[in-house]
Amino acid sequence: MSTSLAWDERYAGGGFQFGEAPNLYLLSQAHRLRRGMRALAAGDGEGRNGVWLAEQGLDATAVDWSAVGLEKARALAARHGVPITTVTADLSHWDWPAARFDLIAWIFVHLPPADRALACAGAMRALAPGGLLVMECFTPAQEGRRSGGPKEPSLLWSRALVEHHFAGLEVLELLEGSVRLDEGPRHQGLAEVVRAVLRRPA
Ligand SMILES: C[S@@+](CC[C@H](N)C(=O)[O-])C[C@H]1O[C@@H](n2cnc3c(N)ncnc32)[C@H](O)[C@@H]1O
Repeated sequence: MSTSLAWDERYAGGGFQFGEAPNLYLLSQAHRLRRGMRALAAGDGEGRNGVWLAEQGLDATAVDWSAVGLEKARALAARHGVPITTVTADLSHWDWPAARFDLIAWIFVHLPPADRALACAGAMRALAPGGLLVMECFTPAQEGRRSGGPKEPSLLWSRALVEHHFAGLEVLELLEGSVRLDEGPRHQGLAEVVRAVLRRPA
């Protein structure tokens, strides 16, 4: 079972588990970003995505339940000379602020079904009109691969789950398939993912 303490332990070493560079799918969406947008990197761990969003001129907040991860996120932001707000919280119990974010990055965040439903409802509430949700997560086809992702199958995402939890958002992209990951020691090699860009109608 995944716990905040287990993630604290993973992050306690010197390196960056998923690298310091932003997720490539998020990076590929740079054309949709505008300076001053209010961005949330959900489950941002050691901060690679939140810091990159801040570097693009966005007002970035990183939330994660690992205090150790977020300490590294703040250090990474300082090294890059950008401001970032961090919040240590469980995404399934966080008091997601209403209509607060123009962008939510949901990158490799895998939660048990009941927690996933709560966190997704929170993310839906937190998206401002016109706001974007950018996601990349592992799918059931990833089971047995060694390129990353949770061991527990019920934590995996799918296109159908994206459509279910984020019903009402406009689909700009929604794809399931194979990609090659090269993100730190934990995400290496061919992987099976779902990728999505969704928008709250203005
Ligand atoms: C696979 S890591 C991905 C980290 C980051 N998104 C990235 O791509 O580098 C999953 C992250 O989700 C966080 N996480 C898992 N369950 C969580 C929960 N219930 N509340 C908050 N964070 C959670 C973990 O602490 C971890 O940092």
